[in-house]
Amino acid sequence: MIVKLFSSEKEAIKEVPSGTIRKLVVKNQGYLLVHSNNEFYVVDELCPHQRASLAKGMINSFNEIICPLHEYRFNLKTGAEASNKCGNLTLYQIAVKSDGLYIEI
Ligand code: FES
Repeated sequence: MIVKLFSSEKEAIKEVPSGTIRKLVVKNQGYLLVHSNNEFYVVDELCPHQRASLAKGMINSFNEIICPLHEYRFNLKTGAEASNKCGNLTLYQIAVKSDGLYIEI
């Protein structure tokens, strides 16, 4: 399913500034829109370790989201946990087009 989130990249940047995380709910499923290092990423809301919500996680300068429960770190480009302590975080496709920002979930 393709979902349009914003009508332009400029609007997306204004609504979700770099270094922040926005929770999305689509068909009762939680996702996160993460803005890190001038890129947008869409990931599952729940940590693959013990399913804590990553919505209150932190983003570090290595382009990783850090789980608030046990501080496992997940690469936003690959989904891999930094020390291979658990499975990968699921990533979703995102597209910035001339008429808006879209995600495929
Ligand atoms: S639940 Fe996320 S690191 Fe344990």
